[in-house]
Amino acid sequence: MDILVIGSGGREHAICWALAKSRHKPKIFCAPGNAGIASLAELVDVMSDDISGLVNWAKTYNPGLVIVGPEIPLALGLTDQLTKEGFLVFGPTKDGAQMEASKDFTKQLLMSSLVPTARSVTFTDSIKAQLYLKKQNAPIVIKADGLAAGKGVTVCETMAQAQLAVEEAMDKKVFGDAGAKVVIEEFLEGEEASILAFTDGETIIPMVTAQDHKRVFDGDQGPNTGGMGAYSPAPVVTPEMNEFILEKILKPTVSALRKRGIIYKGVLYAGLMITAKGPKVIEYNCRFGDPETEVVLPRLKTDFVEICLAVAKGELSKIKIEWDERPTACVVMASHGYPGSYSKGKVIEGLEKAAELPDTYVFHAGTAKEDGKIVSNGGRVLCVTGIGDTIEKAIETAYQGVRTIQMDGVHYRKDIGWRAINR
Ligand code: AMP
Ligand code: GLY
Repeated sequence: MDILVIGSGGREHAICWALAKSRHKPKIFCAPGNAGIASLAELVDVMSDDISGLVNWAKTYNPGLVIVGPEIPLALGLTDQLTKEGFLVFGPTKDGAQMEASKDFTKQLLMSSLVPTARSVTFTDSIKAQLYLKKQNAPIVIKADGLAAGKGVTVCETMAQAQLAVEEAMDKKVFGDAGAKVVIEEFLEGEEASILAFTDGETIIPMVTAQDHKRVFDGDQGPNTGGMGAYSPAPVVTPEMNEFILEKILKPTVSALRKRGIIYKGVLYAGLMITAKGPKVIEYNCRFGDPETEVVLPRLKTDFVEICLAVAKGELSKIKIEWDERPTACVVMASHGYPGSYSKGKVIEGLEKAAELPDTYVFHAGTAKEDGKIVSNGGRVLCVTGIGDTIEKAIETAYQGVRTIQMDGVHYRKDIGWRAINR
């Protein structure tokens, strides 16, 4: 069977790697992919937001399944268009992708189905938003409604910061249309965890838990990034909590979507705050997390092709999913300057040696091939995952892999998994 994967990050490399292990031996295509994915898949020279280009490719090459990695093509309606042409797609329709593409949509859905989440009010008028702020206290969270490349959320320590965040989003339009609506939300205190679940719109199967590290520097300092590392499981989520998350968060969410006529197929990713009063939703994403996928998929024992097909066909109830008990950890190797500006084209050495290390997986993110050499081509360049009998061993294995790889100006966090170790 031919499978088309869309995207070019570490997440998509992990997806292609998990597909390649399948007993069905699929032929994998990836649009546009990266230098690491090229060893597992045939790269397709179409960008992941080029919806008509992707649909035309599918019509010409007729893949048996399309797996969509990033949120942008989902929010642009790629699934709707491919489904209309008769293709099987893993990834929600445009309506379903609103779970990530509109924070207001998600808040309304959660509140109407009594799913635990932060209290919030949505504004379309900046004067009303500022008046509301006058009656609130810091800390408080200001969120642009739409997709803002991970920059639309400001956790404000002071009310002056909050006023500025509203002004920037609504008056100065720094996020464009994404900030036309703003959600002002109660600050939740606690530890974060990511729960990714497979769903076909009816059956829901949560994956093993994970926790990522969003800040760029050690000790969770500095600006937010796409994620500098992750580990699985997240010990903050107890087995009882897992049950609560399935029954009181995921099931009511998927059923509220169904009531709105949305049969959500793909990954539903709940970003949770584990508060003193239990888990609460801080956001939903409509896709696999990055780098969570790089720690979750290496623990998957069940055939990934069979899971993805079952999701796309609406037959997930027929599948039982098994996981490796051993924990995983991954460390992201980034370009100097990321998440701000950075240069590309730095030669990467030691990749083959790292790939030979036991219990180590090297996933490429922003890489390209130039004159026969692998070079950096993005902010997050590589993601090195280790698996081990203990979380300590998994972390040590990941760092051993990282130390085997050289790149000029490379930056990575040295404290991935600190919460899990200090527990
Ligand atoms: P997001 O862009 O939605 O992933 O949010 C970015 C980060 O902002 C989250 O990972 C949290 O660390 C933080 N955050 C979002 N909402 C809240 C909230 N209500 N309370 C505390 N922190 C939050
Ligand atoms: N790791 C956060 C995300 O994928 O959005």
